[in-house]
Amino acid sequence: MSGIQESWGSRLGLVLAMAGNAVGLGNFLRFPVQAVQNGGGAFIIPYLICFLLMGIPLLFVEWSMGRFGGVRGNHSTPFIMDSMAPKQFIWRYVGVFGIFTNLAVAAYYCYLESWTLGYMWYSVSGEFSGMTAAEVAGLFTWYTGFDAIHNIVFWILCLVLNTWILSKGLSGGIEKVAKIGMPLLIFFGLILAIRGVTLQGGEDGAIESGTVGLNFLWNPDFSTIWTPKVWLAAAGQIFFTLSLGMGSIHCYASYLRSRDDVALNAMSAGWMNEFVEVVLGGAIIIPITVGYFGIDGMKELVNQAGGLGLGFRTLPYLFQQWGPTLAALAGLAWFGLLFFAGITSSLAMGTPVMGFLRDEFGWKMKSSAWLFGAMVFVLGLPTVAFFHYGVFDEYDYWAGTVSLVVFATLEIILFAWVFGMDKGWAEITRGADIRVPLIYKFIIKYVTPAFLLFVFIGSLPEIWAMLTHREILHQITITTDQEQVEFLERKMWFVNLSRFILLAVWLSIAGVVYKAYRKRKKTGRLDPSL
Ligand code: ALA
Repeated sequence: MSGIQESWGSRLGLVLAMAGNAVGLGNFLRFPVQAVQNGGGAFIIPYLICFLLMGIPLLFVEWSMGRFGGVRGNHSTPFIMDSMAPKQFIWRYVGVFGIFTNLAVAAYYCYLESWTLGYMWYSVSGEFSGMTAAEVAGLFTWYTGFDAIHNIVFWILCLVLNTWILSKGLSGGIEKVAKIGMPLLIFFGLILAIRGVTLQGGEDGAIESGTVGLNFLWNPDFSTIWTPKVWLAAAGQIFFTLSLGMGSIHCYASYLRSRDDVALNAMSAGWMNEFVEVVLGGAIIIPITVGYFGIDGMKELVNQAGGLGLGFRTLPYLFQQWGPTLAALAGLAWFGLLFFAGITSSLAMGTPVMGFLRDEFGWKMKSSAWLFGAMVFVLGLPTVAFFHYGVFDEYDYWAGTVSLVVFATLEIILFAWVFGMDKGWAEITRGADIRVPLIYKFIIKYVTPAFLLFVFIGSLPEIWAMLTHREILHQITITTDQEQVEFLERKMWFVNLSRFILLAVWLSIAGVVYKAYRKRKKTGRLDPSL
């Protein structure tokens, strides 16, 4: 055992921290846009099925894997997985994903989180008042350029804040933030959701009622239900929003004791995330935007600039239509809720890296937190400096999308087929405060792995198109503007650079895991029952 005594202060704190890990920017910016891009009401049925057949089973699996490893002194996936299959070295290296993803996602996620601080500041200082729609949108382009000094200041501030909280530990830092941040986030979300759905056409310059947008999202449409693209998008959203396939759930759960409940805790955090995503996330940006632009106008905005565009380019302008005081309050509530959603997720991304350093190399809490902060700074620099060249999107695609599916597919094979479903089921149900329906034993063994393989195989054509730069090359062939062609060529260069960085990070982590393994071998720490 590593002798680390860290643990959660209370059950409420644990559930709020886990829910905070899940509830993130994805709930408010990614979910509504995925729903719009995949047909509105057509999206919600695949989404809910993916939650039941993939989300819930993987929550059970990740929580119980984490507790299993933690009881044996392992708080990050390389050695959690190793302890489940000690004779098969490959799982240690599959576990590398559970450190890599957190680090790489944190690198761009903290940058995005820092914009919310900047935009909270702009909202209360009245920066947007009197601006036209184009000026508010233009401010975002300027803000995310490297020459906007506010941008850099808020980014560093956000990194320091994350690092400082992490250095205070689970109960002294993360749990406290979750206990304050989660209720505030729900409060801000409820206020904005009520405003979104009660918006009336003809009031404050709106042309439609907010309910028109809500109906668009909620009217089930069965005509496109068999389109694979919709299922892939729904599955991708379930992964991202529940923070599955990342390694952070394993790490949080590794601080439980052997008979602590995982089943009810996993359900509580998972369902809380779904409430925030489906009820609150669906009732803010889409209804408000539809209120001012109609369904077609909203779709056009989504296609042009996605969730980030609606959240940062459009909403601050629409809030101005409500008068200066309400605009400032709405801006504060919107960017405040995004900030709390973001920080409770980014803190979770720090813990696997810290757990690994502490378990394997005896690092102290503070020094491991600051090393994590420094790594996120270095890895995040290219996303800040070359945002407009697609570095941010590239990190998001490989680390925040593909890695999650790859890791989740492999971990469920380990759990159900290598570790064994009988032992796995005993892990899930030990100490459980609810009766887990037996059908989940079958689902975890057969349905979820089949589903995951389907998702992975279905994604291969898109992965191939990304790898071969199909979209950029297509744009180069159709554009006649020489400057634009040069921009696209530079973009391709930066995209390749991003891939090189991510690969180098993965390999470096694998190298350190190998070193840790050698150290364990030397000191006799390889027997998982030690
Ligand atoms: N689960 C986190 C989110 O939704 C990462 O943003």
